Amino acid sequence: MKNKYDELDKRHQQAEQGGGSARIEKIHASGRKTARERIDMLLDPETFVELDKLVVHRNHEFGMDKQRIPGDGMVTGYGKIDGRLVYLFAQDFTVFGGSLSRANADKILKVQDLAMKMGAPLIGLNDSGGARIQEGVESLAGYADIFMRNVRASGVIPQISAILGPCAGGAVYSPALTDFIFMTRETSYMFVTGPDVIKTVTHEEVTKNELGGANTHNSKSGVAHFRAEDDEQAMMMIRELFSFLPSNNMEDPPVKPCTDSAHRTDEKLQSLVPDNPNKPYDIKDIIFSVVDDHHFFEVQPDYARNVAIGFGRLNGKPVGFVANQPEALAGVLDIDASNKAARFVRFCDAFNIPLVTFTDVPGFLPGVDQEYGGIIKHGAKLIYAYAEATVPKINVITRKAYGGAYCVMSSKQLGGDVNYAYPGAEIAVMGADGAVSILYRNKMTDEQKAEAVSDYREKFCTPYKAAGLGYLDEIIYPRETRLKLIQALEMTVNKRENLPPKKHGNLPL
Ligand code: HXC
Repeated sequence: MKNKYDELDKRHQQAEQGGGSARIEKIHASGRKTARERIDMLLDPETFVELDKLVVHRNHEFGMDKQRIPGDGMVTGYGKIDGRLVYLFAQDFTVFGGSLSRANADKILKVQDLAMKMGAPLIGLNDSGGARIQEGVESLAGYADIFMRNVRASGVIPQISAILGPCAGGAVYSPALTDFIFMTRETSYMFVTGPDVIKTVTHEEVTKNELGGANTHNSKSGVAHFRAEDDEQAMMMIRELFSFLPSNNMEDPPVKPCTDSAHRTDEKLQSLVPDNPNKPYDIKDIIFSVVDDHHFFEVQPDYARNVAIGFGRLNGKPVGFVANQPEALAGVLDIDASNKAARFVRFCDAFNIPLVTFTDVPGFLPGVDQEYGGIIKHGAKLIYAYAEATVPKINVITRKAYGGAYCVMSSKQLGGDVNYAYPGAEIAVMGADGAVSILYRNKMTDEQKAEAVSDYREKFCTPYKAAGLGYLDEIIYPRETRLKLIQALEMTVNKRENLPPKKHGNLPL
């Protein structure tokens, strides 16, 4: 009689071998890892619990009835990262190229539903040839079901995607609906239509990597948020990101024991910001200085560098930073920077992560391209995001806050809870030179002009007018920035603010 345990062992083995050793070798030769190897690297040791390991596809066409592999090219289940529950799915490229069948789409839906029900994050490890060609519309329906759940889960649980191989066609849209996308430098690509189709339609010639590789999406398109050297680094980076995030929108982000004194001052900050408003400096030096243990986890470091965003901790508590970067394009707000910052502000707000903004911005970027590209609606997204955010909002104006950009960057009027400025801050409709040339056009000698500029600078390019009106709560010594931020976060810890009831707003998309 057949031993019942032998049969179970056999099925487990079949599932674990996926498409077989030759295909696994091919994956390794390409610099990638298998779905199971990735899961092992991602999760705390021995915490993975697999679901639906014995699911097989239900297709009979194209001889598929003779090719059923338990698991059907998809590994799903749950496990722990730093002891906290996460759900995941990982596409197994060794089985039918990790393509999406109806059966393995159902496996994803199951973990999506569980993640929502249990209030835990969902991670997708993508490496797939897209819709299973042999299944047609059943596979497409599977994608649409996944998209539907991505949208329902948005703002309820964190959703993270890693692209670790091909991701093409409509398959890109599930990752695009999630909160953060990781890509590996040499081995991943994402595009809606590939190089061959593009060549036929537009006659443009482009490689897969140029079109949709990690460099492209991390620096040009802004589709991705993180670039890792390889699968292992990608998994470590996902773990790091998780350390800043709550499991769901009803929780506060996890607090880490902090040994870095809240009272730590930094003399270097007293002279970091140049007096000359046109001289660049690195705003990240301020962030690195103030965060616990000088540790800042930057998001989208290579895209729209004129605004820096990312996570750090203050007295153990996760905080989202948004900072104009004078070192890139003078820190101006353009279309890409507005989009980048707005999406991040909305993520932090959805997941109860307080926002700290460092403002040093000359305004919105002038230019025909920017106007034609819709800087009006894209800039409006950032206003919308800050105005709508109900998490604690703390702002430090380090130098320039000119024009509309003053309003946008977490101003008191957009609901800033604590607004600080450094003593050298310039808060005005525009810089002194621009103001004088508009006010007096060509009616002045150079000498008179210089005098007017100096007069304007003294009267308007200071924080004192704003402080006198209560638009700033305090003018602080830069060396004390860390303490001031921690005090502001402690003061706002129980902040409660409700928006008027509505179905949803109409963000200017
Ligand atoms: C079924 C597939 C498959 C697919 C790959 N395979 N893609 N099987 N459906 N979509 C199988 C191959 O037959 C092969 O099987 C194995 O996976 C590995 O594929 P290779 O081509 O040998 O691998 P590689 O050279 O690395 O090339 C990978 C690839 C290529 C670039 C992804 O396979 C490819 O172009 N696939 C088709 C991609 C595609 O057009 N998908 C549809 C996109 S549209 P064997 O048995 O030989 O190992 C889409 C719509 C979604 O997805 C809509 C959502 C709304």
